[in-house]
Amino acid sequence: MLIDGHGRKVNYLRISLTERCNFRCQYCMPEKPFSWVPKENLLSFEDLFKFVRAAIDMGIEKIRLTGGEPTLRADLDKFIKMIYDYKPDIDLAMTTNGYLLADIAEDLKKAGLKRINISLDSLRADRARIIAGRDVLDRVLAGIEAAQRAGLKVKINMVPLKGLNEDEIVDILDFGKERGMQVRFIEYMENVHAHSDLKGMHGKEILEKIKEKYEIEKIGRQGSSPAFLYRLKGEEYTFGLIDPHKHDFCESCNRIRLTAEGYLIPCLYFDEAMSIKDAVQAGDIDKAVEILKTVLANKPKENRWSEETNEASSRAFYETGG
Ligand code: 5AD
Ligand code: SF4
Repeated sequence: MLIDGHGRKVNYLRISLTERCNFRCQYCMPEKPFSWVPKENLLSFEDLFKFVRAAIDMGIEKIRLTGGEPTLRADLDKFIKMIYDYKPDIDLAMTTNGYLLADIAEDLKKAGLKRINISLDSLRADRARIIAGRDVLDRVLAGIEAAQRAGLKVKINMVPLKGLNEDEIVDILDFGKERGMQVRFIEYMENVHAHSDLKGMHGKEILEKIKEKYEIEKIGRQGSSPAFLYRLKGEEYTFGLIDPHKHDFCESCNRIRLTAEGYLIPCLYFDEAMSIKDAVQAGDIDKAVEILKTVLANKPKENRWSEETNEASSRAFYETGG
């Protein structure tokens, strides 16, 4: 079992497969970075898998593939299959913008992917284009449909933004409700890479919008999920709110992140990271495990991102995968 320096059990590994992305979301990567990490600096799937196997042996039970945009990596299904074949009962999930999904959803499901979170910030083509920096809506909707058809469990992520999509909170909730997909509203998290004019919405404001149409009941957090769940009164349907400006989910944080270049990051809001790249490339898995233990021992107690300091993170979401 993996235990961090504050006694928390860590069983969830998030792997960013590439920082590259085919979208330019205003809250994440409005401009193409000055330079991408050269492709040769990325860990190969073979090297990544060496680490994943060791991490599973040590107690990782849940893996999420993120980016950037993970579907930009060729042979993604083969990597998924490597993990699945090693441990079929692993909770294997991915977060994607959905743009390339229609063609590959079935292959990913067959390879062993179980769950998928897809970003959907607007149901209006013109707005989706403004938020994502290109014309994306039709393909994203096709991707969502294909994922459901393939039998993947789908969740929808929406980042409500003032003056951009705040009037679509209920529309997106209804979209998810009609299709049996949980919607998770994520508070915009300030970061230095985002478009500087953006104004996010507080969890409270998001709930107010929903209450204009529905009565809601609190359910609470489930396990170590950062999402606080609510139920529409008198219905089965639940939705989630992710409110990183509160500290309370840090207490039960169970996750660690690996970047495409092989940096292990203990907490999204911290810049401290250590690389396992040389170790896995040299085949020295003991060394990689030692680095994992050191990073865990130093995992911070809570994020640095309280309402009091309102500090913008310098860590790019497209590196860490959110
Ligand atoms: N604030 C909140 N959520 C973000 N994401 C990316 N950048 C941000 C940000 N600045 C989330 C989006 C997207 C997922 C990949 O990461 O919800 O769906
Ligand atoms: Fe790409 Fe996702 Fe960042 Fe949007 S939020 S730019 S889709 S990595």
